[in-house]
Amino acid sequence: MSASKHHVTIDLDDRSYDIVIGAELLGNPGTYARLPGGGCAAIVSNDTVAPLFGARLATALRGRYSQVIEINLPDGEAHKDWPTLNRIFDSLLRAGSDRKTTLFALGGGVIGDMTGFAAACYMRGVPYVQVPTTLLAQVDSSVGGKTAINHAMGKNMIGVFNQPLLVVADVDTLTTLPQRELVAGLAEVIKYGPIADDAFFAWLEQNLDALLLRDTQALAHAIRRACEIKARVVSQDERETGLRAILNFGHTFGHAIEAGLGYGSWLHGEAVGCGMVMAADLSVRAGLIEPVYAARIERLVQRAGLPVHAPALGIERYQQLMRVDKKADAGQTRFVLIEAPGRAGLHHVPPDLVADVIRLRTQ
Ligand code: NAD
Ligand code: GLY
Repeated sequence: MSASKHHVTIDLDDRSYDIVIGAELLGNPGTYARLPGGGCAAIVSNDTVAPLFGARLATALRGRYSQVIEINLPDGEAHKDWPTLNRIFDSLLRAGSDRKTTLFALGGGVIGDMTGFAAACYMRGVPYVQVPTTLLAQVDSSVGGKTAINHAMGKNMIGVFNQPLLVVADVDTLTTLPQRELVAGLAEVIKYGPIADDAFFAWLEQNLDALLLRDTQALAHAIRRACEIKARVVSQDERETGLRAILNFGHTFGHAIEAGLGYGSWLHGEAVGCGMVMAADLSVRAGLIEPVYAARIERLVQRAGLPVHAPALGIERYQQLMRVDKKADAGQTRFVLIEAPGRAGLHHVPPDLVADVIRLRTQ
């Protein structure tokens, strides 16, 4: 059954934009009808996604742009770095792309984060559009304007806030997504329940099997609800001076897992899934929630097929990696903890409680 079309607006004054969610969007020229158009459209993608959707997107854009070029990067988190970012600039300059260029990020979160960063830098800034093709990117990374590349010392350490002109979340693109990637995306879907919407958490408990079977209606509902929550948070706190930090539930432990194992070993969503279980456990130890609620979070993460036991990197190594976290305050790690079902906040936690969680949760 095809999904009906939904619009969610990110309300940021003159930088407001829409997320369009539905089926048959990517290849439909009407999807892009409200974009300024005119100059060059540069589709930034990778070796996996471009053969699947590149031609369809290029065809849809040809009527609105005088030139359409395609830039393909190597695939993977391990390439979310300076040399790969530079390949975007090389290609744009070689093609003679000027300031009227619009970049189109066609891919998952890696492509989206890098394209948004490239758009902020190229000729001191050109517009860009997000066309996310993973569940994770549709519910999280394509929305809200965080762009970055990784540094060997920390995840997403080099980047800028840069909002897109439009986000096109076409659920049809998810049909080709490997199951492991779909499951990784579910981690970022699940996170919205405990941090912001307990009713959505209950809906996820009821509908997880449909999501795992890629039921289009269920996916469209989950993407829409996730985007509505993210839109509300980002509209209130674009630059993460406070509230927006809740979107990083599970990410402090998760980023440590990713950096500690080497980027690309565990998928980002897998690390976040395990990180949420650890952060829920920490919330219990900090006296904020009942163990039964943390157990529900763990059960949902596990049912989704995400890891609930962390790799044994050693307590000191975890603590060292977590100190590089962007939420750290004067060198002290802070954690997004669940304060009540559907509510989260940023907390300092005694190091011995954190050490207990790492000790008990590592394999
Ligand atoms: P990804 O971009 O690496 O994509 C996952 C894999 O799926 C890749 O191999 C990709 O080529 C492939 N793929 C993408 N779409 C496909 C499709 N439709 N069919 C078949 N294969 C497809 O990973 P991701 O999970 O999308 O994103 C993770 C990245 O997002 C991380 O770098 C993370 O830091 C970042 N992120 C950013 C934000 C933000 O707010 N900017 C939020 C969350 C995550
Ligand atoms: N993914 C976290 C954020 O956008 O703030």
